[in-house]
Amino acid sequence: MKFDYRESYGATRAPLIIGLPDNFRQMDNFEEVDTLLNGMTEKIVEQKVLSPEAGKITTTGMMIQTEYRKVIALGLGKADSLDQPAVQELFGKLFQYLQDTDTGQGQLLLDTIPYDKTLLAEAIGLMSVVSIYEFESYRADRAGSFSDRAELLITGVVDVKGAVERGEALGRGIAMARSFSETPPNIMTPEHMAEKVAEIFRDRKYVSGRVKDEGTLAGEGYGLITAVGKASKAAPRLVTIEYKHPSAESRKPVALVGKGITYDTGGYSIKSKTGMPEMKYDMSGAANVVGMMHAISALELPVHVVGVIALAENMIDGNGMRPDDVYTSYSGTTVEVKNTDAEGRLVLADAVFHASQYSPGLIMDFATLTGAVVAALGTERTGIFTNKKPGFLEPFFEIAKTTGEEVWQLPITEIEEKNVKSSAIADLTNHVEQPGRASFAACFIKQFTNGTPWIHFDIAGTGTVSKRTPYGPKGATGVMIHSIVKYLETGDMHE
Ligand code: BES
Ligand code: MN
Ligand code: ZN
Repeated sequence: MKFDYRESYGATRAPLIIGLPDNFRQMDNFEEVDTLLNGMTEKIVEQKVLSPEAGKITTTGMMIQTEYRKVIALGLGKADSLDQPAVQELFGKLFQYLQDTDTGQGQLLLDTIPYDKTLLAEAIGLMSVVSIYEFESYRADRAGSFSDRAELLITGVVDVKGAVERGEALGRGIAMARSFSETPPNIMTPEHMAEKVAEIFRDRKYVSGRVKDEGTLAGEGYGLITAVGKASKAAPRLVTIEYKHPSAESRKPVALVGKGITYDTGGYSIKSKTGMPEMKYDMSGAANVVGMMHAISALELPVHVVGVIALAENMIDGNGMRPDDVYTSYSGTTVEVKNTDAEGRLVLADAVFHASQYSPGLIMDFATLTGAVVAALGTERTGIFTNKKPGFLEPFFEIAKTTGEEVWQLPITEIEEKNVKSSAIADLTNHVEQPGRASFAACFIKQFTNGTPWIHFDIAGTGTVSKRTPYGPKGATGVMIHSIVKYLETGDMHE
């Protein structure tokens, strides 16, 4: 979307867009608006021509100065109770209305919304990208995207250009992650994804990267990634992207690790015909890490971050892993594979141990890991786990409240510690036939953190949505990119 800025209303052909609070006198520029609306604001609201109901969009036409214009009102409800998630949803609905009605132009009077203007602008930038995100589909009748042709003039007294652009940069990270996730699995193979990522980050400021191919992985002892990937014609890859801002030169990095199973058939522990479709999204953790790295580097945050994505395809073949196999991980710990469909924890084990070699102050991993987390928390809450004491996650919870991304902590205790070590012939087992599978999976990964503070995000429920929301269309969400970028931005990291 193209943005322009003006200090006050300018006579253009574009529809006029206003925020309409329950108490319309709360608009900072009520006098200006009421003049434009010919002194009729009160009547227009009283007679329900335009509605202040939160999230509702109503329109009318009227003479503004000397021209007949469309007026679009975005209902704000009780303006005093607006917070950042509410503001984001409002703009999501507004942009989706513009998209649905193919309204390619608008003039938004920002001062009609009684809320911090910088925060409003960030929400505008973010939502202008994510709410009307469209995957470039493979359909023959595909038209150019609405977002490419839309233009919005923002009118208000404060300079908000920088804040809109920061929001857009974050939004582009989310859009990038979604596009990786949406791409079909016959195209988005480990090799292809590694190449795309290398291409994206090749000439970026403060960024360096490495790709390990299947030969290197096998040779260097990444036995679990190698085992998961060996039944596929599309061989595995481990990609590391390091972003080091000069001002963070001497700081320990934060490591972001993503599960990148480009397709999960389950392997010999095969999925059912209804359980398998949509498993192209099983690389969303990796895609979201790529999106985070994109946003962090575009924003030039003063941080040191190492992104690691573990890419493999879980298929079936004469050479595939079987339940009962034993493999040696990169850390040297041996693992008995009891279920080949519990492959995410295997690739993450090697990737997390790899990340620990950078001596990070904190490792965070993102994975569409278990169906169990969906049973426990539903599809709107990400399950989070840590190897640290209660209280460790508090600063993150505070951030998540401002982004609107719901998270809920689940436990890892002695119960899981005992179960992951219950193999009769190896150090660990990747599966036991028992409930409590989200905690078990998390505890498995914990064994590879090498004493590093660690937070695990199980995004199996939140990595995709089954229908459109104000944050975007059905499909991949890019969940946690916003929260992690904000978390890094606040600098409230654990060193
Ligand atoms: N990729 C799946 C988890 C998943 C399930 C993600 C549904 C999104 C939606 C993972 O690899 C898996 O298969 N997990 C199994 C583990 C089980 C075999 C121990 C599960 O959760 O059923
Ligand atoms: Mn699986
Ligand atoms: Zn999986």
